[in-house]
Amino acid sequence: MKLIDTHCHLTFKQLSGDIAGVLQRSRAAGITGWITVGTDAEHNRKCVELAERFDDVYATVGIHPHDAKDVTDETLEELRELAQREKVVAIGETGLDFHYNFSPPEIQREVFIKHLAIAREYNLPVIVHSREAFDETIEILDEHGKDIKRLVFHCFGGSAEQAKIVIDRGYYISFTGVVTFKNASGVREAVSAIPLERLMVETDCPYMSPEPMRKQKVNEPALMIHTAKYLAKLKEMDLTDFCEKVSSTSRDFFGI
Ligand code: NI
Repeated sequence: MKLIDTHCHLTFKQLSGDIAGVLQRSRAAGITGWITVGTDAEHNRKCVELAERFDDVYATVGIHPHDAKDVTDETLEELRELAQREKVVAIGETGLDFHYNFSPPEIQREVFIKHLAIAREYNLPVIVHSREAFDETIEILDEHGKDIKRLVFHCFGGSAEQAKIVIDRGYYISFTGVVTFKNASGVREAVSAIPLERLMVETDCPYMSPEPMRKQKVNEPALMIHTAKYLAKLKEMDLTDFCEKVSSTSRDFFGI
């Protein structure tokens, strides 16, 4: 098995204390690549450091919509600098989260648009976080993201209809363990509605362990195999074929 966890937070304190163990358990489960995703200035730095320490760990840099209110010119300047490092493979996570509104919506929009500009500047793919803001996210992308080809809606929680809107624009969709949850029938319909070549898998760990490990408080990349098995079944595919295809999609997307 060869799989890439395309969205994990290895620098978060639940995981960062035992990185060697986390990576080793991952490898034993068939997960052999990790994209550790930046969420604020501090984690962006830590993600890059981690990626520079381990061969198959890659970093992204971005400011989570929750933290958009704290973004200054200096934050964006540092983001630009980090974006040019060799192991940095994407901009994000960025986007809109109108569920919590930890940052005012107007500021979230502004910061999201700035991230799109940086991605374009350095020709990097974009990881989008969109929660209860689907129409607004698409609206911004239609206006400011037209020439960005590699863009993924991460931790997709939308409907089949929304998934089609994403796919029609040439974008990608990535699924977490949420797809394995009992009440996630809408997400399962989204999986069925999209072509395999636009699908990626992630943990978004340390959050949201997949079934049957949902009781495990701290999620980690090793558990992604359960999500992969579940998705392969939904796609009526042999697990090895599914993993090979998704792994090659992920490598092409991030250029690794
Ligand atoms: Ni995340």
